[in-house]
Amino acid sequence: MKNIMVTGGAGFIGSNFIKYVLANFDYNIINFDKLTYAGNLENLSEIESDKRYRFVKGDICEKKEVEKTVEEYSIDAIVNFAAESHVDRSILGAKEFINTNVMGTHVLLEVLKEKGLEKYLQVSTDEVYGSLPEDKKEILFTEKTPITTNSPYSASKASADLLCNAFYHTFRLPILITRCSNNYGPYQFPEKLIPLMIAKALNGEKLPVYGDGKNVRDWLYVQDHCSAIIKVLQEGTHGEVYNIGGNNEWYNIDIVKLILDKLGKGEDMIQYVKDRPGHDRRYAIDSAKIMNELGWSPEYNFESGIEITVKWYIENMNWWKKVMSGEYLKYYERNYGEKVNQ
Ligand SMILES: NC(=O)c1ccc[n+]([C@@H]2O[C@H](COP(=O)([O-])OP(=O)(O)OC[C@H]3O[C@@H](n4cnc5c(N)ncnc54)[C@H](O)[C@@H]3O)[C@@H](O)[C@H]2O)c1
Repeated sequence: MKNIMVTGGAGFIGSNFIKYVLANFDYNIINFDKLTYAGNLENLSEIESDKRYRFVKGDICEKKEVEKTVEEYSIDAIVNFAAESHVDRSILGAKEFINTNVMGTHVLLEVLKEKGLEKYLQVSTDEVYGSLPEDKKEILFTEKTPITTNSPYSASKASADLLCNAFYHTFRLPILITRCSNNYGPYQFPEKLIPLMIAKALNGEKLPVYGDGKNVRDWLYVQDHCSAIIKVLQEGTHGEVYNIGGNNEWYNIDIVKLILDKLGKGEDMIQYVKDRPGHDRRYAIDSAKIMNELGWSPEYNFESGIEITVKWYIENMNWWKKVMSGEYLKYYERNYGEKVNQ
């Protein structure tokens, strides 16, 4: 395995993954991204001149584009991050979620089959397991927890996982699935909880919190997700699912209060708003399998991860202000122009 195609590499986790891999391993990375609103090449500016890195603007739903890139760069493995990833947007309209998350994954699996690649890793989510009871802290999601999807987003991700499973069993393809809990860290689009709250607080705006704020999520620092993915890619057993989590459950409201505290702002900035329809109450991951079988463990605890994250958003206001204003969309034209493959 030498040449890895990372789909969705201009997004939050994908861009962190590319930088993590280039810093720690000797693979060539081909970042294949459609550059939707969530794709921001500025996330990768520090490595864009690395000889082991190439960017290709492309859509995973377009088989010819995927095939062309796989052939041109002699791709050995695909790590699929490309997705519509925001639950709120899936409630407003599910079509793009089904297109990219389901149909796009199907295209990648067909290419995997036809080209006989060495590996395919599907980056999935704990949201496919539905919601856990709030009062039974001993119950966690394991890889055997039945799929129960409550949002169009989770339904589209679960559909993709089921396709991966079917392609493994039917065609014996080298497929791996990871299901991770909520990520946080630098370069996360400021529509997601942690960066949104930091940005609002720094802007002096009210911080909107859904419902009673008592939804529970299990938070993992993005770099720990990246190290888990590479571990599974290198050492995982084909056809298996690996849960990834931080054993770090927090009520949303407590995260918001912690951020305010770190920024020296008062809790009067919190504004409770009408809950999201179908809002899952609690997610919590059991990572025993990846820890015991592959020897992975997170490097960051929540204290260090959130400290780095809040500091990063304070020091990189320019980054998220450009994202919020839409200015970041011009980066691609300005810096790549004619240079990229279309
Ligand atoms: N963010 C989390 O907390 C989390 C947790 C677990 C799993 N995941 C999964 O990890 C993956 C990445 O999440 P993220 O938060 O970085 O998402 P993101 O929204 O920040 O990035 C998604 C990227 O995919 C690209 N993309 C979208 N449609 C495409 C298409 N049709 N063809 C090619 N590229 C396309 C976008 O341009 C963007 O760069 C997703 O599959 C998501 O389901 C995310």
